[in-house]
Amino acid sequence: MQCQSIEELQLLVNKAKKYTDQGKVADYIPALKMANPDSLSIALYYPDGNCYSAGDVSENLTLQSISKVISLALALMDWGEDYVFDHVGQEPTGDPFNSIAKLEISKPSKPLNPMINAGALAVTHMIKGESVEERFQRLLTLIQKLANNSSIGYSREIARSEFETADLNRSLCYFLKQHGIINEEVEQLIDLYTRQCSIEMNCLDLSRIGCVLAFDGKDPLTEVQLIPANIARICKTFMVTCGMYNASGEFAIKVGIPAKSGVSGGILGTVPGRCGIGVYGPALDEKGNSVAGIQLLKMMSEKYMLSMF
Ligand code: DON
Repeated sequence: MQCQSIEELQLLVNKAKKYTDQGKVADYIPALKMANPDSLSIALYYPDGNCYSAGDVSENLTLQSISKVISLALALMDWGEDYVFDHVGQEPTGDPFNSIAKLEISKPSKPLNPMINAGALAVTHMIKGESVEERFQRLLTLIQKLANNSSIGYSREIARSEFETADLNRSLCYFLKQHGIINEEVEQLIDLYTRQCSIEMNCLDLSRIGCVLAFDGKDPLTEVQLIPANIARICKTFMVTCGMYNASGEFAIKVGIPAKSGVSGGILGTVPGRCGIGVYGPALDEKGNSVAGIQLLKMMSEKYMLSMF
């Protein structure tokens, strides 16, 4: 079953909007505090180029943890599966996204998966290039191609704000460096990672990325294979098992689509073989996921039978 009209989608947004007051905008990155907690928008993108959206879809969001899906794809394209998974694991943690706890427990020490911060830092470290600038441009170019929008850039203000306050991420990096998972200057990696997290777009762009993933890495309109199918499959699998952090299990039961959240309030959704979804709702629950965004996806999953399970 497919969405038939914008009005239909707007009704669901209106219903889900009442949940925004149950959440709080992220404030541990000071610049994210500026977001409007009442915002809620969604875009659905179908392979024939049809798009339905509701809410203020022109509002920009920074990718934050959503970027981890694409940096993983790029690292896998750069190094291959064996190398990447020698440095980062494939298992969910059940812990918060910035937790340091399990790093000491796994032997040999490596982050449990690429979606938690420790794993994402290890992945970003693997992006090839001669300089931070070149590595960042390679990631940005891939994201622009996936969203079919060459004007996508990053928010310098949000990147700086995170760079100035990212001491927990720095501590994860130092731990990883001590254990040989990364071997570059921590400040350099944090610079690259904070720019990556600050890549800025709206939920329409996000839905186009979701659509490419839904069609195994191939842009359904141009038929260009932007990400190898096997790598797109790996990314979607991580989205199911770890994409919503320690809420991934409940999300799989209630919504049942591969999805990745970010502390900006964005959610990238991909419905295999059907469509891409972009959601933006900056009020977050205690696990760092968009509170109204999850409710909206739940309603949509029921209405359009989106669950893959
Ligand atoms: O590293 C951080 O803490 C942020 N730049 C991204 C974290 C994030 O988006 C977690 N998502 N729910």
